[in-house]
Amino acid sequence: MRHHLRKAVVPALLGAALLLTACNGVGDAAQDSGENGTIGIAMPTQSSERWINDGENMVAEFESRGFGTDLQYAEDVVEDQVAQIENMITRGADVLVIAAIDGEALGDVLGMAASGDIPVIAYDRLIRGSEHVDYYATFDNFQVGVLQGQYIVDALDLGNEDGPFNIELFGGSPDDNNAYFFNDGAMSVLQPHIDDGTLVVRSGQTSMDQIATQRWSGSLAQDRMDNLLSANYSDEEVHAVLSPYDGISLGVIESLRAVGYGTGEKPLPVITGQDAEAASVKSIIAGEQTQTVFKDTRALATQTVDMVEALLAEEEVPVNDTETYDNGVKVVPSHLLEPVSVDVDNYHDVLVGSGYYEESELE
Ligand code: GAL
Repeated sequence: MRHHLRKAVVPALLGAALLLTACNGVGDAAQDSGENGTIGIAMPTQSSERWINDGENMVAEFESRGFGTDLQYAEDVVEDQVAQIENMITRGADVLVIAAIDGEALGDVLGMAASGDIPVIAYDRLIRGSEHVDYYATFDNFQVGVLQGQYIVDALDLGNEDGPFNIELFGGSPDDNNAYFFNDGAMSVLQPHIDDGTLVVRSGQTSMDQIATQRWSGSLAQDRMDNLLSANYSDEEVHAVLSPYDGISLGVIESLRAVGYGTGEKPLPVITGQDAEAASVKSIIAGEQTQTVFKDTRALATQTVDMVEALLAEEEVPVNDTETYDNGVKVVPSHLLEPVSVDVDNYHDVLVGSGYYEESELE
């Protein structure tokens, strides 16, 4: 039923989208059709390894279950992602799986999907401000932040030590809903220690509008850390850095090393992260970054494919949270997977033991 409806509506949209494709050159399709339908997969960027893994895992899983895929990356350019999604619709996608670059920017194109009766699954990042988001497949994003905050508390042994310890805070991209969940989770653990003076944010920068990092950029984080260090740490040391994402962690470490951290008398602070990207796991093994949060992209891909299969078969879609993710228009039914804290002590078990990495990829 869904198919008849969609096919009647979509041809009218074809001309406009083809024109867009021709203008911006983002229409190169990586498309394979399958007997069970075609899934449009819109991913944000290939500049981070995790999204490459997410895309590859989903393509493999969808194809093994008889679906075709149309996978596109937009290199963090919002307009390109919108054009790519339009093209997926005109090329006949049956379902869209979208990890948004800007969670607020997809309203119009999702309206186009809805007129074609094409369901939309938000992948990892919530799409905000649109009623046309059917489901959300993600991890427990608040818990990601809790794991980061708790790691800092444990590493500094704040149960026994009074400090004061100096900490600086980094947030994720302000246009990504996840950034606020990560920060809220981390601050739920850290704030009491800031309030009682055990942790001190010497820069005074604690709100998301002060600490956010546009597009999760490692180089912007590095610049901000340079400024924080020169303005606040000429005669003090920083003992911990809350970083929400591995790319940011590595930028912060560059900045710290440039002013002499990473030696016996001036050790690097405790530095958290997220995604267990190979570069960061290597940094953890080398004793630089301290922690990351592993989110198994294989499990997220499988979960997403399960949801799509159920949707198309008009069966009950597996979700485990129908309260948390209000996108401003509706609460989007979600499936949350569990994140895992990883450091030098358990990376081998968790990442190599599960086959996520070969030992040789971490050398
Ligand atoms: C978030 C995602 C994180 C991290 C970050 C930067 O939306 O949940 O795992 O990948 O984007 O890409």
